[in-house]
Amino acid sequence: MHEDVMIAPSILGADFLHLGAELESIANADFIHCDVMDGCFVPNLSFGPGIISQIASATDVPLDVHLMIDNPDAEAVRYVKAGADMVTFHMEAARHAHRTLYAIKEAGARAGVVLNPATPVVALDSIIEDVDMVLIMSVNPGFGGQKFIETAYRKLRQLQALCFERGVSPLVEIDGGITDANVESVVAAGANVIVAGSCVFNAPDHAAMVERLRELGRQGLGGRL
Ligand code: DX5
Ligand code: ZN
Repeated sequence: MHEDVMIAPSILGADFLHLGAELESIANADFIHCDVMDGCFVPNLSFGPGIISQIASATDVPLDVHLMIDNPDAEAVRYVKAGADMVTFHMEAARHAHRTLYAIKEAGARAGVVLNPATPVVALDSIIEDVDMVLIMSVNPGFGGQKFIETAYRKLRQLQALCFERGVSPLVEIDGGITDANVESVVAAGANVIVAGSCVFNAPDHAAMVERLRELGRQGLGGRL
């Protein structure tokens, strides 16, 4: 089995006054998860392509850019040009998800879609063959440090079933409220890219927490159905 568990610390949880040092502290991560918020799709603002481009030049770790913006169809390619290796956008925001996925890929990055907690897995029915990754939100997007919403487990299993039925194996990312207490069970339910913001950046040793999440997550691979 090719599958492993990948850890994507969310820099939303980092100290922005010392972002360079924070990036160095997670050099052992598989992705750096960058949360782009526009104050419209979600009730918070973060950063845009300018900061992404600076982050890209400051690290060798691939950037996983999570767009929480109202108009991904028009904006997504800007983030590829800024240095993203993976760009995901919300199904609730895209009017032309298929076109936008291929625009991201043609620009040179991997492309994925995101489902909010209230959006069912069936929303992926006509797009699952076209994505490199699906991101299941396990909190309502907008803020770090929120509590994990338990229905995410069922959605991860439904996604596993859909992928099996179609014979595809996109990366499956989970985002929101992930800690060392639930990482094993989300992997067992089908996740293999683990976003962790407050859990990593509130830990005294960030790299050690990345490693701990990876090891605990790997134990979940054995629990798959
Ligand atoms: C929420 C963001 C998350 C967030 C995760 O809108 O998409 O990536 O930073 O933070 P934690 O891990 O603290 O829930
Ligand atoms: Zn995110």
